[in-house]
Amino acid sequence: MTPVYLDNSATTPVDPHVLEAMLPFFTEIFGNASSIHTFGQRARAAVEEARERLAILIGASAKEIIFTSGGTESDNTAVRGVAYQLRGKGQHIITTRIEHPAILSTCKALEEEGFRVTYLPVDSTGLVDPRKLADEITPQTILITVMHANNEIGTLQPLAEICAVAHERGILVHSDCVQTLGKIPIDMKTFAVDLASFSGHKLHGPKGVGALYVRKQVQFKPLVVGGSHERKRRAGTENVPGIVGFGKAAELGLEHLPEMETHVKGLRDRLQRDLLQIPGTTLNGHPEFRAPHICNLSFDHTEGEGLLISLDLEGIAVSTGAACSSGSLEPSHVLIALGRDKHHVHGSLRFSLSRMNTEQDVDRAVEVLPQIVERMRSLSPSYSAD
Ligand SMILES: Cc1ncc(COP(=O)(O)O)c(C=O)c1O
Repeated sequence: MTPVYLDNSATTPVDPHVLEAMLPFFTEIFGNASSIHTFGQRARAAVEEARERLAILIGASAKEIIFTSGGTESDNTAVRGVAYQLRGKGQHIITTRIEHPAILSTCKALEEEGFRVTYLPVDSTGLVDPRKLADEITPQTILITVMHANNEIGTLQPLAEICAVAHERGILVHSDCVQTLGKIPIDMKTFAVDLASFSGHKLHGPKGVGALYVRKQVQFKPLVVGGSHERKRRAGTENVPGIVGFGKAAELGLEHLPEMETHVKGLRDRLQRDLLQIPGTTLNGHPEFRAPHICNLSFDHTEGEGLLISLDLEGIAVSTGAACSSGSLEPSHVLIALGRDKHHVHGSLRFSLSRMNTEQDVDRAVEVLPQIVERMRSLSPSYSAD
């Protein structure tokens, strides 16, 4: 049985070309990128080339990119960095109820330090209303942080409108773009955010490496201090193999971008259409404004964890929402924010695809899942009572 991996929002397989690009940096090109000698200079050149590749993918200047240890660190750095930099001007931050825990936990920690945070509601499809956001702005507001695509349901936020509202009042905007890098075009020349977070392992790069985009002239207080790496914006010896891998993944991401709208979205849409044929199945997220690789469905009278385990026994990997909250059986804060009732929240699964998935992967999920749902429902007292 060939395993079917449909959990690409959690992480993606490393592209073999990425691995190949990384390998020499563990062995012969092992230098510290800050060293003056040739070993160091070769490592430095590779780091700068990777920075250039990521800059090309997002339409930015290489100087605007800071390498980090991943999306979580980028989110922490952006929110704390701006908050501490601007705390003399104001202490109010606006975010949404459906952000990744990397943002929500940072905001909670800042509240304990005296900042005020507004958590915007979303509508039943997961969209933030820019007018509601405008109503929450006060002279104290220093930062608005709204994710690009939600990692559980894929809904894409109207960032252009959000930036217009914020910038009219001189407020900085950060966006967690971890789920959209290499999935939909991002061009910082038109995409008006001031700071953006990215992660390597979501686009066939290695884990433990990410980046923070910081628009020229935007000031923030570094989170990690020490040496003068990353132009004094993030201290610590660079993870050269990881950065090289991320750079290669960014280069491949640009090359494969057109496939996202065709191959990946095509597979996702077929999977969604066929699974929605199962009676009592509903879509969570926006039907249209959605990242091309994500589909989150609720199956009435089932339980997500049970479905996940049954699928896993069939060799199919999916998720019940965010990887970091599964295992805890905590209901998804995202689905709760959409106003979904308890049954929908508990009986939900996230399917997330990548360019490495095939028609056969979708066929297999579509073949297996209806029977699993049926079996679980036949055991559910609430189902037979209906
Ligand atoms: C939207 C979003 N933000 C941040 C992160 C954290 O990224 P990393 O795993 O690189 O720390 C993730 C990963 O799950 C994510 O999906």
